[in-house]
Amino acid sequence: MSEGQKEFKIATGDRAILPEGTRLVPIYIMGKRYMVPETLTIQKATEYAGYQFIRACGCRGGICGACGTVYRILGDYHLHFGLACQTVVQENMYLTQVPFFPANRAVYNIEETSATAESIMKLYPEVMKCVACNTCTKACPMDIEVMEYVNAAMRGDLAKVARLSFDCIQCGLCSSRCPAQIQHFHLAQMCRRLYARYKVPQAEHLQNRVGEINEHKYDTLLLDLVGSDHDTLRKLYVDREMEPQDSVGWEPQDKTKL
Ligand code: SF4
Ligand code: SF4
Ligand code: FES
Repeated sequence: MSEGQKEFKIATGDRAILPEGTRLVPIYIMGKRYMVPETLTIQKATEYAGYQFIRACGCRGGICGACGTVYRILGDYHLHFGLACQTVVQENMYLTQVPFFPANRAVYNIEETSATAESIMKLYPEVMKCVACNTCTKACPMDIEVMEYVNAAMRGDLAKVARLSFDCIQCGLCSSRCPAQIQHFHLAQMCRRLYARYKVPQAEHLQNRVGEINEHKYDTLLLDLVGSDHDTLRKLYVDREMEPQDSVGWEPQDKTKL
């Protein structure tokens, strides 16, 4: 530790196994300075500094979108964005978390909503105010082409919105930055729903299976499973036949449950 660092209190409380020789670096959490190991993610460093997450933390694996974080590095005017569970700390990082961004979500009945640009304009009219600044894309921790899918939504190209937004984890960071006040993640979710409901060809075998379920074909089988003990369930699971990746023409040997 350098002379300069001695004047700061070193945070305690361990949530990580630290590699030998790990340096401590200063970060600022809500304006307060802490010395934390340089190898930690923002999430672990925050816990190392003594904070306990009650909100703003979910999966810890970059999936749930609960840990959106905004930060600046001392001397750099850029505002940066990331997921606290995925972003490693940097020296002189000033950070705060945005665990939830309030965004209006349109209320609609999908059975009465057409998969068209008109529906999008009616339910999310602010989409037309996009000024093409691309800030939403820069804010996205999932590297999604957010502005591209907003443009596709304006044209009613639901297939493109669905494809581009598929990895969205609904962290809300895009909406927190948009000068047009667009609710990107809710808009994209509605487009994916409409696309799946009206545009994607329905799989015949899936429809057949849903029909069988509705006709109670599997009720007895399910009740048997519900009444089975742990060992029986475990054996059934371990011995199950698995469909191979290249499953064209494949059928299970045991056809009694088809
Ligand atoms: S941040 Fe808003 S205005 Fe800017 S490109 Fe994205 S959607 Fe458009
Ligand atoms: S599109 Fe928006 S809400 Fe979705 S992951 Fe990217 S920044 Fe988060
Ligand atoms: S805690 Fe779920 S994405 Fe970070």
